[in-house]
Amino acid sequence: MMMTATCDDAHTIAFEERGEGTPVLFIHGFPHDHTLWSPQLRSVGGHARCIAPDLRGFGESGREGPWTMDRYADDLVCLLDHLEIERAVVCGLSMGGYVAFSLWRRYSDRVRALVLCDTKPGADSDEARANRRELIEVARNEGAAAVAARQMENMVGRTTHERRPEVVESVRRMLERAPVEGIVGALEAMMARPDSTPDLSTIDVPTLIVVGEEDALTPPDGARSMHEAIEGSRLEVLAGAGHASNVERPAAFDHVLIDFLASLD
Ligand code: MLT
Repeated sequence: MMMTATCDDAHTIAFEERGEGTPVLFIHGFPHDHTLWSPQLRSVGGHARCIAPDLRGFGESGREGPWTMDRYADDLVCLLDHLEIERAVVCGLSMGGYVAFSLWRRYSDRVRALVLCDTKPGADSDEARANRRELIEVARNEGAAAVAARQMENMVGRTTHERRPEVVESVRRMLERAPVEGIVGALEAMMARPDSTPDLSTIDVPTLIVVGEEDALTPPDGARSMHEAIEGSRLEVLAGAGHASNVERPAAFDHVLIDFLASLD
């Protein structure tokens, strides 16, 4: 069931919550919504208090700009306040990981542990920014379906494209329903995001890094570098999964996450 919280600036945050115990805040990527985490709400929800919000501009959350990673992080801390949660395990996939880095920089005392999935710490290159400017034009002129058509090739891995058509279709439907304001806002926020690499050595909470072996957008080599930079972190490479590893290999992903959560007790 969807619920809502209202922030100081009258912004509405929609979220789904399932389960009891250690709070886990699940942050979706681009251009997703909270349903990215449906498999985890179902299974990890039996072990922990799972909270999956729609980021500003996506799903049923409010759509007011301006858009920055810090603002997404502020929204999520407002949600934690609303739920009276002091510290949560923060689990972000791809752009959700960029938000997790911002959350760590601004509110490290609210972070019990980090789960960094299919993400990377670096800022955009000039080439990446140029691609994002082009995608903004595609979103404005042709809509979300055209953006989805461009993103789908690398959104899931080769094995999923070949063998799991139902997963491909469900991810495509999620991308196609993203609001254009949210797509454009997130692209602007990603273009402007800072380099989080210097922050990695400051991370002193338990950290799990998960990456799909076939992830072409944020490949395993980058995850290995993050693992080396974050002292004591754990790295899991999921075979047969690409960028959306949590929906491509949900049982393997959940197993790793539940095991990590148990290690926090
Ligand atoms: C995502 O899945 O969130 C995006 O691929 C991230 C990005 O474009 O940098």
